[in-house]
Amino acid sequence: MTIEWFPGHMATARKEVAEAMRKTDVVVEVLDARVPHSSQSPLIERLRRENQRQALKLLNKADLADPERTREWLDHYNAQPGVKAMPMVSKDRAEVSRIPRVAQSLAPARSTPAKPLRLMIVGIPNVGKSTLMNTLLRRAIAKVGDEPAITKIPAQHPLGKAMWLMDTPGILWPGMDADTTLKLAITHSIGKNAYDPETVALALGRYLLAAYPELLARRFGTGVERGDEHELLIAIAELRKLVVKGGGPDLAKAGFVLLSDFRSGTLGCISLERPADLG
Ligand code: G4P
Repeated sequence: MTIEWFPGHMATARKEVAEAMRKTDVVVEVLDARVPHSSQSPLIERLRRENQRQALKLLNKADLADPERTREWLDHYNAQPGVKAMPMVSKDRAEVSRIPRVAQSLAPARSTPAKPLRLMIVGIPNVGKSTLMNTLLRRAIAKVGDEPAITKIPAQHPLGKAMWLMDTPGILWPGMDADTTLKLAITHSIGKNAYDPETVALALGRYLLAAYPELLARRFGTGVERGDEHELLIAIAELRKLVVKGGGPDLAKAGFVLLSDFRSGTLGCISLERPADLG
């Protein structure tokens, strides 16, 4: 699957993020708990290490992820120097309210009115940055779009007297491998105009058949877990009476059902990768 999704404005946004990083103490990385590794921008990680900034990695959408795998990812990241990781549900005020204290522990010399702790929120599109900012600041802020015109001056928001947050646009990176592309299409961080939904749904089906067959059987009926991903989409089309003009199962619509059931959590708590996959 080849997609063209790295538009010029992403390159502009990348420069802005690099500049903002230099004025930051702690980089708050919003990752998708279902795909923590794939949703981590290698560009941001490289910049962060080059600038020797501490990282608070938030495994967001933890309510949709497999809790056992989330624990594995937390152990994986918490073993890295200068990194703290915590699970997150960014609509949940109680969860979000833990962030400032953990961020402070990463940069103990800051957090005074004279030397405020400077946090920078980063993350790929649709991972939950705006939701997190709104919960953290307890007010609705304008969404930082991917348009460079909107993001030229990164938005800075005070959080109490001794801390402020900088919002950044969601950026992807060029040269993404096929597996990562598919996972980010499944989780909706790559827009639907950039890929073929049926191909993405088939990839999801293949993964779920291998890793979570029981959840498929529970949702779509016992027996679906015994076939392959094509047969799975056919079974979903038959179950939901999705038929193309002239007859036959509508696999595109069946694929959409599978994708939206995954994205909404209707299928269950599912993660698409684990640290052991990194090799
Ligand atoms: P972004 O700024 O990084 O692009 O992401 P944004 O906050 O806009 O969130 C993208 C979608 O993810 C939104 O759903 C949002 O509600 C959802 N979301 C964010 N954090 C969480 C979380 O911790 N758990 C779950 N389950 N969902 C989360 P949407 O469908 O686009 O909008 P909405 O209908 O939910 O408002």
